[in-house]
Amino acid sequence: MRFVIKKAVIPTAGLGTRFLPATKAQPKEMLPIFDKPAIQYIIEEAVDAGIEDIVLVTGRGKQAIENHFDKSFELEYYLKKRGYKKLLDTVEQVAKMVDIFYVRQKQPLGLGHAVYCARSAIGSEPFAVFLADDLIYNVKSSGIEQLKKVYSEFPGVVFGVVEVPGDQVSNYGIIKGKSLGGNVFRVEDLVEKPSRREAPSNLGIIGRYILTPDVLSALGTVKSGKNGEIQLTDAIKAVCREKPVYAVKLEGKRYDTGDKLGYMKASIEYALRDKEVGRKLRDYLRRL
Ligand code: G1P
Repeated sequence: MRFVIKKAVIPTAGLGTRFLPATKAQPKEMLPIFDKPAIQYIIEEAVDAGIEDIVLVTGRGKQAIENHFDKSFELEYYLKKRGYKKLLDTVEQVAKMVDIFYVRQKQPLGLGHAVYCARSAIGSEPFAVFLADDLIYNVKSSGIEQLKKVYSEFPGVVFGVVEVPGDQVSNYGIIKGKSLGGNVFRVEDLVEKPSRREAPSNLGIIGRYILTPDVLSALGTVKSGKNGEIQLTDAIKAVCREKPVYAVKLEGKRYDTGDKLGYMKASIEYALRDKEVGRKLRDYLRRL
């Protein structure tokens, strides 16, 4: 039976060590990509795809995310009084966007464990998972929309992959898949962060998934894997032995905003796409 995907889990409990000291007193998910916090792009993608409830798996020091998506009476009052209509709309819109539930991941036991922490809020229907470090730019169809399209034809676990260079396979979950035509693969095996020699392909998982409750059950029993963490990849691998699992080669430009260079590329390119500053920034960059 096929379900409409209404819930999404977004793990945000990571310490953001790669961005220290910028992330010492603020969550990495709140670092701006041009003029919006990184997490807002992800939540907008979810909302635009019809997600109604978002479960954010957080940790200590992440209150700024909650405040960002909450109503801010003082700020709204001030903006209204000053007649800053456009800014007021922007700020109000962020708070109205969606219902967000917060669950704590009390120990840093890995991505699989983070998703497992959301199990009571998810219940027994398929759900989406978004990794906040993966930003996919595609004006025609967002990452999650592309997965939903495949899911409507192939109900089951569906997640995104991209081709990654050989020297980077050890940063990703890598799949062994059989092409079903177009961008879709039937997944036969998955390995979390293999060495170049062990990698079964160069198709690396990126942070958009549609998962079934079987994956949550598997997360409850899988042993810790790569780096001693509970890996989402291992739970999906367990499910793929019994049920169909599909990978979709996503179209669009993908940024790894958890990496300093990827973060800068995203910030600059999102600014270049902006109507107000884009042209001026391009001129400036040309003259650098
Ligand atoms: C996680 C997943 C990995 C996936 C990657 C995509 O790894 O475990 O399978 O390829 O996200 O960004 P992380 O980057 O959190 O170490």
